[in-house]
Amino acid sequence: MSSIIVGTGIAIPDNVVSNHDLSRIMDTTDEWITTRTGVKERRFVDPGTGSSDLAAEAVLAALEDAGLEAGEVDALITATMTPDYVAPGISGLVQAKTGMRHIAAYDIRQQCSGFLYGLDLADALLSSGRAKTAVVVGAEVHGGFLPWSAASWNRVLGGSEDISEEDFARNTEHRAWSVLFGDGAGAMVLTAGGAEGEGLLGSSLHTDGEEFELIWVPGVGFKDRPYVTAAGVEADVHLPQMDGGGLFRKAVRLMPEAAQTVLASTGLELNDIDVVVAHQANDRILEGVRRQFGVGSEKVPSNIGSYGNTTAGTLPILYHELRQAGRVTGGTLVCFAAFGAGAHYGAAIYREPAAAE
Ligand code: ACO
Repeated sequence: MSSIIVGTGIAIPDNVVSNHDLSRIMDTTDEWITTRTGVKERRFVDPGTGSSDLAAEAVLAALEDAGLEAGEVDALITATMTPDYVAPGISGLVQAKTGMRHIAAYDIRQQCSGFLYGLDLADALLSSGRAKTAVVVGAEVHGGFLPWSAASWNRVLGGSEDISEEDFARNTEHRAWSVLFGDGAGAMVLTAGGAEGEGLLGSSLHTDGEEFELIWVPGVGFKDRPYVTAAGVEADVHLPQMDGGGLFRKAVRLMPEAAQTVLASTGLELNDIDVVVAHQANDRILEGVRRQFGVGSEKVPSNIGSYGNTTAGTLPILYHELRQAGRVTGGTLVCFAAFGAGAHYGAAIYREPAAAE
């Protein structure tokens, strides 16, 4: 018996910020962002909404899709790099907000690869018999990372008030990474019910800790005493630091490499894959993956134009949309692939079960 996905759901915030909106608060253009990243717009929650709220919404939608009650879930795995609080993680909040029993709830911190790692953990729990029904959810609210003042937020969301020159300069200083991200969540419900050759057929997960600083947030962290200081915040240690070129080169090479490794381990070939659900960090990275595989965007699709990079949310959101659009149906062979901070990366192969007669 293998692990099969029996329900999916997503949570997408209402506040839409286009590239044009961003150009009202920093020196950027729709043309620059579109050609370098493929992002056209991204979504943001209102302040006060946490990744646990988006996660709970996505989980409840996925449970409804599966025709299951929260009380039937045996294991919950949440993945986020933007938790509501420094500690504890969001899994307990999601367990309580969705009305699950006092089951084991895990917090995964693998950033862009968080959902993939969660899927693998769910498969381990299901195939070992330790759970019968598992839920995996990836959720992010990146708005809290953004170095924008209240006036900048007001203007980017459509307000007519101008912002100060200092705000404009600060937003421009951080433009290389801030234009990439958006908020969103996606969830999957899995059960151990797949027939031979169906469901999760294999995965290949990796970590290269030498690349820890490709993208990271140096503060606030507990090797400092106290772990948060006004001086640290003044020095922007709480904002992400990113080596964009380094990330780009690694992601383009390592996602296809992991996919080839898991294909070899499952006795399948690249030609067998119907669709690659790859982490949505940048459409140019996806272009590189397509080139490596010698395929087009129908095989390595992208929805980054609508959401930007939602970190742990990208895989389940894209998979849900492909399922809704009928691009993933009975028998479809899917390759999930991700690369991100850590540096954690990997791939998994999944065969959608044949539709019930
Ligand atoms: N608008 C306008 N100009 C900009 C912007 C912006 N938003 N951001 C940077 N620029 C400018 C730079 O200041 C620079 O100007 P200069 O030549 O006058 O100095 C110029 O554009 C070129 O900057 P580069 O950094 O060389 O641009 P590049 O072509 O490398 O693109 C980018 C940068 C888009 C970040 C690219 O490196 C990238 O996508 N890397 C991957 C990063 C990523 O995906 N991170 C996501 C998180 S990690 C993950 O999910 C895998």
